[in-house]
Amino acid sequence: MSDINWKLVHDTAIEWTSEAGQYIRSKMKESFSVSTKAHQDDLVTDVDKAVEDFFKNKIVETFPNHRLMGEEGSYESVKDLEGIVWILDPIDGTVNFVHQESFFAISIGIFHEGIGMVGIVYDVMRDELFTSIKGNGAYINGNQIKPLTKTSLNESILSFNHGWVLKDRRLEELVKEARAIRCYGSAALEIAYVAAGRLDAYISFNLAPWDFAGGSVILKEVGGLATNYEGKELTFLDKDTFIAANPSIHHDIFERFLK
Ligand code: IPD
Ligand code: CA
Ligand code: CA
Repeated sequence: MSDINWKLVHDTAIEWTSEAGQYIRSKMKESFSVSTKAHQDDLVTDVDKAVEDFFKNKIVETFPNHRLMGEEGSYESVKDLEGIVWILDPIDGTVNFVHQESFFAISIGIFHEGIGMVGIVYDVMRDELFTSIKGNGAYINGNQIKPLTKTSLNESILSFNHGWVLKDRRLEELVKEARAIRCYGSAALEIAYVAAGRLDAYISFNLAPWDFAGGSVILKEVGGLATNYEGKELTFLDKDTFIAANPSIHHDIFERFLK
């Protein structure tokens, strides 16, 4: 492995995340502009863009050899994961940011030659910070998260957008078998919740690397699994189907999608 100081990269990323969080909270009290992207429910605000610009400028100044793949435009210049790449969602859960004023996150996965080294997911309004450095466990506000323990599907709480059930009837079986279904509207936080044992799995029909990079790096540190619907590894370069789960139910879930 290289002699990169990952603790320094991790601590610096946390410092910037905290600063960006303060900015987002201040904008929440003032005003911001909202526009739509791919369709009328796909929202973006000037705050999303400003947070991405903030990270872009900080990275260029401090780590000039690192690259940024961010949702709000900077992804366009990143086509591979050579060297060090920060995969950033400046606000994951923009609909929640705009409508609910809660349950959205800044999400960062920092990759080295395609391997997730640092994970950060920050719940801005709860001031709850999920973090990890590869091989050093995962933490919530500095307190180590316990490794995931065995569970079964009928004792599990699963999370996915309810709309997916209309598009993919295979999810109906999971709805019947699980103890409960939840839908929070921030993929990054829902994956972090799987890592924390608050949820047992999070499933999505279509996610981008910035939605799942930070959470997946954190989840791995507690023994959780993140794959696509075929049980294959994610590339962190392309959109894909997605399952993040406690390892004891991951197979039970993805075999439903092989039918
Ligand atoms: C979205 C959220 C949402 C998920 C969508 C994502 P955004 O991210 O994570 O929970 O269902 O697929 O696009 O647009 O708020 O960054
Ligand atoms: Ca997102
Ligand atoms: Ca976003």
